[in-house]
Amino acid sequence: MKYLHSITDLSNEAIIETIQRAIKIKNGGYDQLPDVFVSNLFFENSTRTKCSFEVAERELGMHVIPFETSTSSVSKGESLYDTCKTMESIGCDVLVIRHPERDYYKQLEGLNIPIINGGDGSGQHPTQCLLDLMTIYEEYGKFEGLKVVICGDILNSRVARSNFEALTRLGAHVQFVAPEIWQDHTIDAEYVDIDDVINDIDVCMLLRVQHERHDSKSHFTKETYHNGYGLTIERYNQLKETAIVLHPAPVNRGVEIDDSLVEAPKSRIFKQMSNGVYTRMSILAQVIENNRK
Ligand code: NCD
Repeated sequence: MKYLHSITDLSNEAIIETIQRAIKIKNGGYDQLPDVFVSNLFFENSTRTKCSFEVAERELGMHVIPFETSTSSVSKGESLYDTCKTMESIGCDVLVIRHPERDYYKQLEGLNIPIINGGDGSGQHPTQCLLDLMTIYEEYGKFEGLKVVICGDILNSRVARSNFEALTRLGAHVQFVAPEIWQDHTIDAEYVDIDDVINDIDVCMLLRVQHERHDSKSHFTKETYHNGYGLTIERYNQLKETAIVLHPAPVNRGVEIDDSLVEAPKSRIFKQMSNGVYTRMSILAQVIENNRK
């Protein structure tokens, strides 16, 4: 891995290698990268992705150059390209970027600095996808034949897009659950009723309702969405004993998932966050190593 823009950049072998390396890191197996400068350019809000990248970078002994859009020259109108070119010129070795524009990284292809995509609008979220895959892999040790349901605001979700692609390629059977207005028919997936599949799935991946990407006010009340598409207590009780529940978070409690289920025994939501640090260490280490060669 020399950079990571989209999950499409990684072969199935590279995905498995990234997960296995993350698991090794989790068990303490990693070297320091003390001479590396990194900056995290987040043009969209973030808690988990930004903070876990920062923990990952510091765990690896990297120098983290602080950057906030509000206090940077972005507020004077500097372009994304010029901001990144500046970071490259002053000696940064790698950039982690989150930006509201889908495919923003395409305008940066002329730069000589590797970019790790921390989310591009409703496009891709490859590092979230890899931490989700790590969490599933730790549970089942495989992807082949797993039954996965991705449920919620598919149309606006970069998490759905990346995960559908990767899981399908790795041999899982992935179905979508979504209200009509949030279905995306450019993705070749089958839409099902959650109540028809809930008792037969291995992974129930919930998505956040992306209010900030909707142009009008919410189409659903909390209750209508929860009763039609959310993980209610009744649905949770129908899950197989071995099934797991994922959500990239932030969670709208009582909407995508009943408040009392966020930390229920089948929930892996906080484990996903911990795994995010190891996954990002695995990605950073590979990108740095492959750019040194
Ligand atoms: C996701 C994101 O930002 O795409 N969150 C995250 O990175 N953990 C999902 C979301 O915000 O809905």
